[in-house]
Amino acid sequence: MCIAFLIYSDNFVTLHFIMIHRKMEVFEKADLLRTQIDKLKADGMSIGFVPTMGALHQGHLSLIENARKKNDIVVASIFVNPTQFNNPNDLKNYPRDLDKDLKLLEKNNCDVVFTPSVSEIYPDENSKKSEYHFGKIVEVMEGKFRPGHFDGVANVVSRLFKIVQPDNAYFGQKDFQQYILIKILAGKYLSDLNIQVHRCPIIREPDGLAMSSRNVLLSPQQRKSAVLISQTLFWAKDNYQKLSVNELKKAITDKINADNNLKVEYIEFVTDPDLDEVNEWAKDRKIVACIAVQVGKVRLIDNVYFN
Ligand code: PAF
Repeated sequence: MCIAFLIYSDNFVTLHFIMIHRKMEVFEKADLLRTQIDKLKADGMSIGFVPTMGALHQGHLSLIENARKKNDIVVASIFVNPTQFNNPNDLKNYPRDLDKDLKLLEKNNCDVVFTPSVSEIYPDENSKKSEYHFGKIVEVMEGKFRPGHFDGVANVVSRLFKIVQPDNAYFGQKDFQQYILIKILAGKYLSDLNIQVHRCPIIREPDGLAMSSRNVLLSPQQRKSAVLISQTLFWAKDNYQKLSVNELKKAITDKINADNNLKVEYIEFVTDPDLDEVNEWAKDRKIVACIAVQVGKVRLIDNVYFN
């Protein structure tokens, strides 16, 4: 939190700023967190929220940094949400290191962390069912290849939003389709909470690989191969108008699949924000190239704007 104050001395008035760092608080129980947030809101504090599944990296920390700039209080949540995993092995192998995450959050001036158990978020079987409908935007890409994934995301984000009731919430562009879904969730279904949903840029490793919690699961050889995903997307951005949509899809797939460690699951060109499939290059619509690639047992996604 930044406090500004004026000092009057002789004939001068000077303006001073001091940064006050609160001690980070960790809550496992939703009702205790709510009581604390109610107090902070009653004191006029604005709340910025960064939901995560832990295994934090620079991408998450950039969300915290963005939240820090605009809000008095920054709340993060760490919850590996079982209902959004369509593959039980992916859930089992998802990296977890709560102590390391909490240290990172503290170092990066997060004020409050919510670390609920599964039963805290889902008290019964019924609560695991999503009540939202998003139509065609969940029928493509991640929605098509990960059945049920977005039901789980919408359900958990809605539950977290209702508990934290932030003024602002922050999500990464790497999960572009997820961001579009959450924007609709907040605007259409949770409009009474009045939450502004913000999108923050993809943070990349120095060689271009999009940061992801799953990157730590890659072997050294797979990690080397994985750089081809972003390299190929950037090549496609520079060359897309020279080829037709189908030719470009094939060229991207062939380049990536040429590496034995990589297998393209899908490559799609869609519009932002409607996720309409692009069949020919149109200058008047924002086109995003979205890809999912299986790297051994690890599944990575990435995307790049063409225009
Ligand atoms: O992007 C993620 O890490 C998760 O999908 C989210 C938004 C925290 C919901 O579990």
